[in-house]
Amino acid sequence: MAQQLALLNGSPIRTAAFPAWPVFGDEEERALIRALRSGKWGKQDGTETTTFERDFAKYQGAEHGIAVVNGTVSLQIALMAAGIQAGDEVIVPPYTFLATATAVVTANATPVFADIELDTLNLSPAAIEAAITPRTRAIIPVHFGGLPADMDAIMAIAKRHNLCVIEDAAHAHGAEYKGRRVGSIGHMGSFSFQSSKNLTSGEGGFITANDADLAARCRSIHNCGRRPGHAWYEHFVISGNFRLSEFQGAILNAQLQRLDEQVRRRETNGKYLIAKLGSIPGLGLQSYTADCTRHGFHLFSFRIDAEAFGAPRPAVLRALEAEGIPNFCGYPDPLYKQPLFVKREFGPFAGCTGIDYVATNCPNCETICYQQGGWLEQRILLGTQADMDDIVRAFTKVHEQRATLADWARSQ
Ligand SMILES: Cc1ncc(COP(=O)(O)O)c(C=O)c1O
Repeated sequence: MAQQLALLNGSPIRTAAFPAWPVFGDEEERALIRALRSGKWGKQDGTETTTFERDFAKYQGAEHGIAVVNGTVSLQIALMAAGIQAGDEVIVPPYTFLATATAVVTANATPVFADIELDTLNLSPAAIEAAITPRTRAIIPVHFGGLPADMDAIMAIAKRHNLCVIEDAAHAHGAEYKGRRVGSIGHMGSFSFQSSKNLTSGEGGFITANDADLAARCRSIHNCGRRPGHAWYEHFVISGNFRLSEFQGAILNAQLQRLDEQVRRRETNGKYLIAKLGSIPGLGLQSYTADCTRHGFHLFSFRIDAEAFGAPRPAVLRALEAEGIPNFCGYPDPLYKQPLFVKREFGPFAGCTGIDYVATNCPNCETICYQQGGWLEQRILLGTQADMDDIVRAFTKVHEQRATLADWARSQ
């Protein structure tokens, strides 16, 4: 007999909670106490943050790493270090957190939106090519949800047009493209340790680079424009204090010990879900490209094609929630539809010139935002295989009950 949907007063597939985030224990407690008792709470005094810089850069396969206060200023610093200036254009995707684009504005340049691919949710190389003008200076590909962007194609475009590539790897700690860790492929990489991220200290960010000169510029900009070998009160470039504290460095040193096992667990579960959910009609799953040798799974991203599935996305998401599977529809709008861009509320950043964001149109991004997108959070993928089976059973049940669900949606 068909099971009644929990949304319509049937029994839910599960009532147990999925794993909580962040994961922490004695190690984090000891690290915090160690930082506290050292009396060295600032980066210039202690060794926690500099130790983390060395270890996380190595983990991502990069020569250099600079820990900063968040993953927004890491992008801004990278753009400043690349020499981006007023009137320059930087190509970004519209399906990402605000910061990918606003960091360009606050670096006094112009973000230009290029569309994503429907199946990977990553920047489309063809759309990048189409967005290039004589003013283009950089590209910021986002490894969306932990799936590496098409870096070979992007680096080839960058080489042809002499552009800087800054990987926004805020979702992609530990992810690999053709065996190389993200953040070590472009000219610079940017990470976030904000509380939802797969490696977290509540807030925090990181810049990776292989080029010593770029790294030195980032290091100077994050530290009030100082340079090694010069006096504390000698400042060489426009900059600020963007240093991460020792408390955050201490937490990150402990969290980094957990990261690799967590990346493996999320990937095992993500692959399991892809294998089990792949045959449900109208349910699209973020493609696992052949070049992705390790998915970071910050998000498990899916698409509901209402017609093929047999029920509209909002109803499907509500029905899954009622079955005990927490989910999100994802970013509600392409970034260029945000009031900030529509009204060009750029404050003092006069370097953002030229583009009329009202005329911007990225159809794939609009399809994902307005019609099809859906996410499960990374913490869910830290569960057991039995937890994943519940997710499969919930999707299967909602699909089986699609006609009833569609009737319910029409009655709302
Ligand atoms: C893709 C992306 N880039 C940049 C950021 C900015 O990071 P933060 O919140 O640490 O400033 C985020 C954070 O949500 C993000 O998801």
